[in-house]
Amino acid sequence: MKVTSARFVKSATNPEHYPRDNRPEIAFMGRSNVGKSSLINSLLGTRGLARTSSTPGRTQLINFFSINDAFYFVDLPGYGYARVPRDVKKLWGPMVEKYLATRPGLVLSILITDSRHEPTELDLLMKEWLESSGKPLIIVATKADKLSSNQLRASLSRASAVLNTKEIVAYSAVNRSGAARLWKEITNRIADFK
Ligand code: GTP
Ligand code: MG
Repeated sequence: MKVTSARFVKSATNPEHYPRDNRPEIAFMGRSNVGKSSLINSLLGTRGLARTSSTPGRTQLINFFSINDAFYFVDLPGYGYARVPRDVKKLWGPMVEKYLATRPGLVLSILITDSRHEPTELDLLMKEWLESSGKPLIIVATKADKLSSNQLRASLSRASAVLNTKEIVAYSAVNRSGAARLWKEITNRIADFK
């Protein structure tokens, strides 16, 4: 897919603030600091569109980006980071759950893990929740550039076992490996959306 325009639309906490034009959406989710915003930027070929940070918990609202005026990328706040304020933590569950449960245009959820670490219980819960709700998902292990090819292979097979899945896409926001595979999935899901 050729990205001709990518712009930030809005940050939202409440469903009343979500875009209402019924376009297909791709949601990016995963633990805090795992690389969600970086993945969005690298897929789009933009640098600072989704704000990235080495401080976990940077993205605390649901951020909508309009791509080609045709569909949305949605950057969800990361879960599982202990040091975010309690109020934020309390808000996270209901906010993200509401988002995931109420969007008819959610054609694909991209669940992101860090290829250097074994997926957590929360990653598994998220995956199982999406599956049981009938939401299409794809699992991505990012920061693949930080591992040797042997390490990456071992890590992917371990992650497949933990998450009980056949396919995990290895990705790197540094060299964009995995981008073609992800774009193919995104394009197909958008094309199927009526
Ligand atoms: P929160 O919004 O805080 O939950 O974080 P996030 O999941 O959006 O992570 P973000 O994209 O901000 O990235 C966190 C850190 O990981 C940053 O320092 C990024 O530069 C780094 N990072 C992300 N993806 C990659 C990657 O593929 N390779 C390498 N080497 N670093 C990465
Ligand atoms: Mg972020």
